[in-house]
Amino acid sequence: MLPWSNFSATPWSQLLSFIFIFLSFLPHISWASEWIDYSPDGYATMTHYSLPENFIAACGCTSTSTNYPTAAMNQMAYGSSTSYGPACGQCFNLTLLNSFLSNPPFYPNVTKSVVIKVTDLCPLSHSGWCNATTHGPNAGSHYLNFDLAWPSSSIPNDFFPSNEPLYGCTDFGVWNVSYQSVSCTNWKGWNNAAALGSVVNLGYSACCPNNPAGSTNDTCPSYSDDSGIPPDTQTSGFTISSPISLLPIVTLAVSLLSHVL
Ligand SMILES: *[C@@H]1O[C@H](CO)[C@@H](O)[C@H](O)[C@H]1NC(C)=O
Ligand SMILES: *[C@@H]1O[C@H](CO)[C@@H](O)[C@H](O)[C@H]1NC(C)=O
Ligand SMILES: *[C@@H]1O[C@H](CO)[C@@H](O)[C@H](O)[C@H]1NC(C)=O
Ligand SMILES: *[C@@H]1O[C@H](CO)[C@@H](O)[C@H](O)[C@H]1NC(C)=O
Ligand SMILES: *[C@@H]1O[C@H](CO)[C@@H](O)[C@H](O)[C@H]1NC(C)=O
Repeated sequence: MLPWSNFSATPWSQLLSFIFIFLSFLPHISWASEWIDYSPDGYATMTHYSLPENFIAACGCTSTSTNYPTAAMNQMAYGSSTSYGPACGQCFNLTLLNSFLSNPPFYPNVTKSVVIKVTDLCPLSHSGWCNATTHGPNAGSHYLNFDLAWPSSSIPNDFFPSNEPLYGCTDFGVWNVSYQSVSCTNWKGWNNAAALGSVVNLGYSACCPNNPAGSTNDTCPSYSDDSGIPPDTQTSGFTISSPISLLPIVTLAVSLLSHVL
């Protein structure tokens, strides 16, 4: 006689459904807290990247948005590992403070600011400027990085100050900036309806509010949370987090099994 034939099926299916239900909630429990919570103003790093004119970036903002200042935000602050996240459409005033990779640091004698709209995601990586997580900042000691789309038809080519005779370069690459969350009415593209909103035919995988204020009714949800995708698909550093949280349940299940048997 088989040892387990004495037991009715009910405890097993209950145990299995408990495990199943628990697992199905797990993404929301363990992943949601991994996003970086930042204050409406503070300090950040700023880098730049080339975004082709009319390119439709991760948020799915209209192609015309590229005619105005836009930026990508580091993944763990952006709030999704793919497609749109809560940062999409938000506007920030960024002010250049100093370069700090150069020796000595360069402090410009002019104040340069730009109001950007977040339209893109800068993927999480092990190093580099978009690597901040809730466990630690990037190499500039900041949890936010704004990757400015530049050159841009809307930003002067001499936007980044420099002192070529002293440093031998015109582009410091990485800046320490101050940022303030501002209304998108301050954004250069505000008066052009074609530059606002999301691309219609991308359907639900686009989310680019005109002027998000942080309420659930005007701010994008996290695409990856909604789809059950972990926030960390771009690195291997975090992929172990969900197997680790599975371990106690597997251990529990195994010990329950061994008690039953
Ligand atoms: C952006 O910051 C600069 C420097 O602090 C300030 O002069 C400017 O008024 C700010 N712009 C907006 C729209 O807040
Ligand atoms: C990000 O990378 C820098 C080196 O580029 C490193 O010093 C820092 O610890 C990294 N941050 C995280 C959170 O991994
Ligand atoms: C960035 O600027 C702030 C304000 O001037 C300063 O306190 C901070 O040390 C700077 N950070 C770096 C890495 O230069
Ligand atoms: C600001 O500094 C630059 C070099 O970094 C110099 O060429 C320029 O003349 C200075 N401007 C003022 C107003 O001091
Ligand atoms: C969104 O919610 C806020 C309160 O959370 C409310 O003041 C605002 O009017 C709402 N906006 C829309 C478009 O419903």
